[in-house]
Amino acid sequence: MTSRNAETPVMAPDWADACACPSCGVPLDSVDGKLHCAKCRGSWPVIDGVPHFVESFPYWGEMPAEQMQGVNRRAATGSWRAALLESEDPQVRKAAGMILNLDRANWHWLADLPPDSRVLDLGAGTGTNSHALGMRFGDVTAVEPVMERVDFMRRRFAQEGLPHVKVLRSSLWILPFLKNSFDLVAMNGVLEWVATGVPGDPAELQKRALENVFKLVRPDGYFYLGIENRYSLGYFAGYPDPHCGLPWVPILPRALANWYARRKGQPEGYRQYLYSSGGYRKLLESVGFNRIEIYLALPTYNDPRFLIPLEDNIFDYYRETFNGGGKQSRKRIALDLARRMGLLKHCEYSFAILARK
Ligand SMILES: C[S@@+](CC[C@H](N)C(=O)[O-])C[C@H]1O[C@@H](n2cnc3c(N)ncnc32)[C@H](O)[C@@H]1O
Ligand SMILES: [Zn+2]
Repeated sequence: MTSRNAETPVMAPDWADACACPSCGVPLDSVDGKLHCAKCRGSWPVIDGVPHFVESFPYWGEMPAEQMQGVNRRAATGSWRAALLESEDPQVRKAAGMILNLDRANWHWLADLPPDSRVLDLGAGTGTNSHALGMRFGDVTAVEPVMERVDFMRRRFAQEGLPHVKVLRSSLWILPFLKNSFDLVAMNGVLEWVATGVPGDPAELQKRALENVFKLVRPDGYFYLGIENRYSLGYFAGYPDPHCGLPWVPILPRALANWYARRKGQPEGYRQYLYSSGGYRKLLESVGFNRIEIYLALPTYNDPRFLIPLEDNIFDYYRETFNGGGKQSRKRIALDLARRMGLLKHCEYSFAILARK
């Protein structure tokens, strides 16, 4: 484990070349440490090499804000890995497993792209996917609105020697890039969150977010979506939804889920909509994507050991090969029956979805 006394210098990327005005879509100029639009006269600061297109955004993270700030303080003068792994706080060490797991992004091997591809990771969090993508691709942009996570990523990529993985502070509603400018855009665990704290119908907001994304992908380019399945078996057994913490809401009709969430003390109602595989397919097609390949991400999309195509009989092969045998129990018999009826594959926890423009 390396330890540094001074902060690793970050090479400032040439943002003017990489960005466009989020309102006018024209390229930006770099003026006095700011990005500037000559058309609408908008200007955005570049702080510590990171352009800020949003100024404030509520904290979100695998660990509480205070712990994340502590990790950032240690990563400023020492190793970012050690700041996680050598923390005395069990919450930080637990989050470390997630944050360090580069296998999370193994889905990218499904995309047939050359190493010089330009890649965008939206809602990049602490940068696990961006880090993995940066080891294969020559130009990666990590977009994230939460300041603590932006700070963490900036140090992570600098210390890892990944200057081509750039960090930009923004959200899905303000995307400062030229149309058709990315070979691959990824959203892992993000689409379900976009309506949180934003007024309007969640389904409409999710569709609008995807429309924004669609514009950025070049023709024939890829879009990756990692997300939970609305009809995961656990929800039928009363397991809480991992986003809002309430049981039943994913599987209930939306209006009922909304009413139930309010009744349970969530004044916003239910907003983190999930869909079935068919629902995601329809949603992606509705914004213009095609050649949509849906994989079951097993056991979860945040730690996928297997990506099993939903089509054909590959799930049956997987289940019989890797989950077959064992003790006969009532649960096992019920699951086998559900598999034979072709239902079980629609009730796995999450999907990895690859679509083309
Ligand atoms: C579950 S985390 C996933 C992080 C990362 N993609 C990963 O897989 O490790 C969701 C991320 O989406 C970000 N996020 C939430 N709302 C967003 C929005 N409107 N635009 C962009 N990112 C958003 C959060 O700040 C958070 O970092
Ligand atoms: Zn402008």
